[in-house]
Amino acid sequence: MLRTGISGLGISIPEKVLTNRDLEKMIETTDEWIRTRTGIVERRIVEEGQTTLDLCIEAAGNALVSAGVQPEDLDLIIVATVTPDMIFPATACLLQDRLGANKAAAFDLEAGCSGFVYALVTGAQFISTGAYKKVLVVGAETLSKITDWEDRNTCVLFGDGAGACVLEPVEKGGILGFDLGSDGAGGKFLDLPAGGSRLPASEDTVAQRLHYIRMDGNQVFKFAVKAMGKAALKALEMAGLSNEDIDLFIPHQANKRIIDAAGRKLGLPEEKVYMNLERYGNTSGASIPLALYEAVNEGKVKKGDIIVLSGFGAGLSWAAAVLEWI
Ligand code: UT7
Repeated sequence: MLRTGISGLGISIPEKVLTNRDLEKMIETTDEWIRTRTGIVERRIVEEGQTTLDLCIEAAGNALVSAGVQPEDLDLIIVATVTPDMIFPATACLLQDRLGANKAAAFDLEAGCSGFVYALVTGAQFISTGAYKKVLVVGAETLSKITDWEDRNTCVLFGDGAGACVLEPVEKGGILGFDLGSDGAGGKFLDLPAGGSRLPASEDTVAQRLHYIRMDGNQVFKFAVKAMGKAALKALEMAGLSNEDIDLFIPHQANKRIIDAAGRKLGLPEEKVYMNLERYGNTSGASIPLALYEAVNEGKVKKGDIIVLSGFGAGLSWAAAVLEWI
């Protein structure tokens, strides 16, 4: 089996900033509640008319430049998202066209906030077998479009953004291990009920606000605390490593309290746990690539470092990957 490494990274962040103070004017909440219960201070929101594809194009373009790869050399594009431009065609196909990646296969992957790591591991399988040489993986979301801005339990949490990476075969390092999983019995704790085959869009579904994210925060919280650390440990085991080998843990950016608990479970000091959720909130499939990009650009990741990515989300699902940075 061949090894797979990340050869380039890119992100896209909408310009518009929505602060906790702004939210105080929209719903019954306080900056203090949001900071202490979640760690979030502000999030980015797309302009009206701006879509997930727009964010994908910018993030993917940046990743391709940083990898020195031409779009026409891509073999595969995977977009991890819960906010595709449309139910179909896949946003990955729209991206393939806009990039001019004319020989690339393309599909979307839906695994909630675990989506980027699921897509990373999926893309890596095509490289490991030798089938493909250049794979583009994007995690992109415009959660603001499916957020119920009247529901204070959820609307303070989410933000928009995108992160992308290019995968290529490497001699040494790269992805060393992973753990993917799901617990569908918990699917009811985090869903978007209408718009699919169960509840097609109707006046009634719109009136009942069923086209927005619905979440039992406490249930997801309990699941997340267990799942993130456990997935990271299993991925490390597959890599023949332990928690002591971690140089930087990059968790899904959902809630500071969940991240702190996962860091404690892995026995990590604060400086080995990366966090940027105070600036972006929870951007679902975009959160891990956004954090990875910023960690690398802040000089927190060096060649040879062991990086652990770990996420959880709708499904319920989880996904972790261990990488030796190249
Ligand atoms: O990517 C995966 C997506 N989801 C997650 O990661 C979410 C995981 N869950 C969480 O992060 C937390 O459960 C939340 C941040 C969503 C909630 O925090 P919590 O500490 O579990 O609070 P709670 O739901 O137990 O609510 C405590 C109180 C309630 O009031 P009462 O019933 O005690 O009077 C809520 O009504 O806080 C109230 N509350 C708020 N107050 C001010 C809930 N949302 C807000 C708000 N502002 N925005």
